[in-house]
Amino acid sequence: MVQKILMICLGNICRSPIAEVVMVDTLQKAKVQNVVVDSAAIGSWHVGNRADPRALSTLKQHGLESKHIVRQITKKDFNDFDYIFGMDENNMSELRRLAPPNSKAELLMLGDFGLEKSNRIIEDPYYQSGAAGFETAYQQCVVACEAFMKERLQK
Ligand code: 4NP
Repeated sequence: MVQKILMICLGNICRSPIAEVVMVDTLQKAKVQNVVVDSAAIGSWHVGNRADPRALSTLKQHGLESKHIVRQITKKDFNDFDYIFGMDENNMSELRRLAPPNSKAELLMLGDFGLEKSNRIIEDPYYQSGAAGFETAYQQCVVACEAFMKERLQK
């Protein structure tokens, strides 16, 4: 059975494309198969664009690449995907607001897996100057994706 994971953030140019690539890399390294990973935005501002150059360069420094084209989340996603991850509390409240009644997807915050409570929010690095926030988001994703995989996908 194929399991489907959707990574969500506000713009789909910073955190969720990183989370998508990190989840794919984590699963590949562990040889976990039959998992589909995608990402999407809450907002429509960047639809059709590639990820922020700072996200792409952060991934490149870790030997990874995103070819994702930004798309906005749809109602259908809530029944297509098994797991939909938000990065912060604002994402989670938007996801709960957008979810159709009785939809299939489990709505989870990525940082609730494997991270300390004080570090569970994957903060938006978009308005920060420089790339430090992107590296922080990447490192949080590495820990959280591994922990989620071990808890939910390798049982
Ligand atoms: P992201 O960051 O949600 O991690 O992709 C943002 C990117 C763009 C905007 C907000 C957050 N924006 O308002 O354009």
